[in-house]
Amino acid sequence: MKTILITGGAGFIGSNFVKYILENTEHGVVNLDALTYAGNPENLRDVSGHPRYRFVKGDICDGELVDGVFREYDVDTVANLAAESHVDRSITNPEIFLRTNILGTHTLLEAAKKHWKTRPDDKYSREYRAGVRFLQVSTDEVYGTLDAEGGGMFKETTPLAPNSPYSASKASADLLVRAYHETFGLPVNITRCSNNYGPFQFPEKLIPLMINNCGADRKLPVYGDGMQIRDWLHVRDHCSALYAVLDKGRIGEVYNIGGNNEKANIDIVKLIIQNLGKDESLIEHVPDRPGHDRRYAIDNAKITRELGWSPSYTFERGLAETIRWYADNGAWMENVISGNYLAYYAEMYGD
Ligand code: NAD
Ligand code: DAU
Repeated sequence: MKTILITGGAGFIGSNFVKYILENTEHGVVNLDALTYAGNPENLRDVSGHPRYRFVKGDICDGELVDGVFREYDVDTVANLAAESHVDRSITNPEIFLRTNILGTHTLLEAAKKHWKTRPDDKYSREYRAGVRFLQVSTDEVYGTLDAEGGGMFKETTPLAPNSPYSASKASADLLVRAYHETFGLPVNITRCSNNYGPFQFPEKLIPLMINNCGADRKLPVYGDGMQIRDWLHVRDHCSALYAVLDKGRIGEVYNIGGNNEKANIDIVKLIIQNLGKDESLIEHVPDRPGHDRRYAIDNAKITRELGWSPSYTFERGLAETIRWYADNGAWMENVISGNYLAYYAEMYGD
């Protein structure tokens, strides 16, 4: 049995991953999350009293705190999901992305090296406790953009060419993780996944934003011509892929994760409109995102071949279930949008 430190476990993918681990394995989970605007304890209400689950409110950039978490819980596995994750926010305020995504990852790497080395004082030693592993949860955005008309897919060997401050910060973190493996022998993996959708996603992202606006007959803001393509994967399929890598990924390897499911943004918006029985006149084309990547597509042959992973959701089923989930969980959406949950943090955790 392992003790997995999941950082960012109160966010969208993190909260789904915490539940995935508790439901499908015998491992313990420590969730370290700063509860930024994107972290929501409501996402974890079902498991808050679970005997194998602990929550620590804290910042991954806080070395002393991270050190204490490794010591207190005897962490032997890290899945680093804590991040500033929204591209549009990185355009208006890049600095916090550099801090959390780069420096925060570095703090975790340092703690892992210190606590997992069998001879921590020997700077040349590359020996670690058996079974330890550091998983960096990265993104396909580090590869930059593909040509919408030309074919091609991102492979693990595709050169990194990030285009936004968000993706540049994630690429920087990937390079640090790689460096800690090459220089110090730290047992690491990096995963690079395509766009996720599913329950508990913050409504700044395309799918929950469109579901929410459409349900309320508000305008649906489509950036530019809406012909940008993303490769959509249900969040639970991402979680099963992350666990497959933690469980049996080859140390030092990068694994791409994707759903073989390319869709233009405008088609997603139309599917949501159709599903909710609304009218396409709600669509409003708005100015494009600066530096907007045109197309992402993941070649997932490596994880499929080596780890036997494949997605289990079809997009039709996943999207229909997701739309139903948001309809059934109106109070969750209402809370997030009204900021009630920020007041709740202040009451529970101070500041
Ligand atoms: P999210 O924004 O929903 O959640 C991020 C979580 O990290 C929040 O709970 C937040 O409170 C926490 N956090 C932020 N800064 C922190 C800090 N300094 N210390 C501790 N916790 C902090 O993000 P998400 O969409 O769930 O993404 C999770 C990870 O997966 C990110 O690393 C992201 O880059 C990656 N990813 C996301 C997608 C996607 O489609 N959403 C796809 C591929 C990869
Ligand atoms: O590819 C993985 C990445 O997917 C993750 O690394 C990021 O954390 C995650 O946010 C996501 O990035 P995107 O920029 O692709 O996701 P977003 O939901 O912001 O936008 C999806 C597409 O929809 C993108 O082409 C921009 C467009 N869009 C988005 C919003 C919010 C719109 O047209 N209108 C909108 O209002």
